[in-house]
Amino acid sequence: MEKDDMTDERRLPDVLKGANGNAIKTVEEWRGSRRPEILELFRTYVYGREPVGRPASQVFETVITPGTMNGAAVRKQVEIRFEGQGGTGKVRLLLFVPSEGKGPYPAFLFLNNRGVTEMDPERRDISMFWPAERIVARGYAAAALDLEDADPDVDEGHRNGVHGIFDEYDGERPKDAWATIAAWAWAARRAMDYLATDPDLDAGRIAVAGHSRGGKTALWAGALDERFALVVSNESGSTGAALSRGKRGETIQAINDRFPHWFNGHYKSFNGREEALPVDQHMLIAALAPRSVYVASAVQDEWADPASEFAALAEAAPVYRLHGYKGLAGAPFPAPESPLFGERMGYHLRSGGHDLTAYDWERFMDFADAGALK
Ligand code: GCU
Repeated sequence: MEKDDMTDERRLPDVLKGANGNAIKTVEEWRGSRRPEILELFRTYVYGREPVGRPASQVFETVITPGTMNGAAVRKQVEIRFEGQGGTGKVRLLLFVPSEGKGPYPAFLFLNNRGVTEMDPERRDISMFWPAERIVARGYAAAALDLEDADPDVDEGHRNGVHGIFDEYDGERPKDAWATIAAWAWAARRAMDYLATDPDLDAGRIAVAGHSRGGKTALWAGALDERFALVVSNESGSTGAALSRGKRGETIQAINDRFPHWFNGHYKSFNGREEALPVDQHMLIAALAPRSVYVASAVQDEWADPASEFAALAEAAPVYRLHGYKGLAGAPFPAPESPLFGERMGYHLRSGGHDLTAYDWERFMDFADAGALK
């Protein structure tokens, strides 16, 4: 498919045209007006509005264990504690800092959506879903949090998790109130609050990465929080990296039906009406510019729709060009196992199905080595 045909078929909102119809021609106009406007549209219509940033009550409690991973790493188990009018909460952050080489180290913060077994602090049960040993061996600190600490992944009216702690409205929940992906993104930013203060880490070289629902979360956290230097989305699909207009596999209606708690009340009104949505997901990727972004897809993951994930990068590229970076420079959709590393944008398509594998992680780190975190 030619790019022009695709744009025509999908009729995307123009990322470089403001709500008042003015063309955005400078970085100043982008940063001062269009970017904040886009974030506000995503808050209003998709993810919801977070009622609190960094809570004044937030504290970190850290337990440090040297000599883990057979001496290759220092383990830090951090509890991020906070309090709101609805009570107290905590997010647990597990961090392995390399003990060889020279710090401060760049880091990958992984937003784990598969439960604590994937994060085994003793590393008896090593899974390639979060290959902390490989990450450390390549000179990166490996951090992970369990998304369910911030908000259980169930549809229960947003009463538990951080919603119950910080929400302040009475009666009916506002249609733009934050939903579960926004609560998870909030937790990722609180983890960043800690990582930015750890002297073993380089606060300017921290990536946020997630798979699938965790990848949707990484994109929203990265869009809101410019402290993340690199955002990695693995197979995030619908309402993640993939364009909604013209998307195959999971549609807005399908995701709202099965996961009504992920997005806000307004998003339901776009079921079957992708064309009416004032945003599309290329605008979320554009909000990351000029920071680095890496998107990965899998051939058999038709539910996420690799072509729509790749197309969103191409459609975000004008904003990267405005900042002086070529992005993927018009590269065609690649063959499997043929990663594309462009300026501030990377992409790969992997053989196989919906999963996060050692192959994916090695490419994320190759891209970080190639400049995103160096
Ligand atoms: C479901 C959902 C996807 C999501 C995926 C996952 O398949 O429909 O949107 O990305 O779960 O999180 O693994």
